[in-house]
Amino acid sequence: MASYSVLFIVCLAIVPLQAVTVPFTSCNTGDPVPATVRMNCSSLLTDTCVLKKGHTYLLQAEFVPQSPSVDVESSVAWRSWVEMPLPGQDSEACKGRLPCPLTAGTPVTFTYPLHIENFWMRRRYPMVWKLEDDDTDSIILCFNIKTFITS
Ligand SMILES: *[C@@H]1O[C@H](CO)[C@@H](O)[C@H](O)[C@H]1NC(C)=O
Repeated sequence: MASYSVLFIVCLAIVPLQAVTVPFTSCNTGDPVPATVRMNCSSLLTDTCVLKKGHTYLLQAEFVPQSPSVDVESSVAWRSWVEMPLPGQDSEACKGRLPCPLTAGTPVTFTYPLHIENFWMRRRYPMVWKLEDDDTDSIILCFNIKTFITS
């Protein structure tokens, strides 16, 4: 009996976490927002996605582009009193993160694997995610989510 419980706990630890719907807020008035944001957070504390150091989390933001785009640049930043870009992130969204070119009115999902580095501080981090058209610099998508980095 006891060994079965141990086996069960081991399985739970290995199986990737299920994605949950993460509440978000808009950036600036008029910026396009996603339909839904999902991420396989370690847990969701009210509206805060808990992320553990050394793990990778998959962010999935579903949205409907308002205009066509050939090339898209993504960015993610910490927002405190200034916005600080997260170090070491890949900005070329069309390389496997988005089905480019984007067509106005056709729903798409932006998928980004976010690795939580061990040297990031253990604290509460509001994150700003942004997609911009590489040619026109117009904002395609922008939203804030609340995260908490833990060890
Ligand atoms: C989140 O999901 C991705 C994709 O399925 C997986 O690679 C990753 O390990 C998962 N993260 C956690 C912490 O389970």
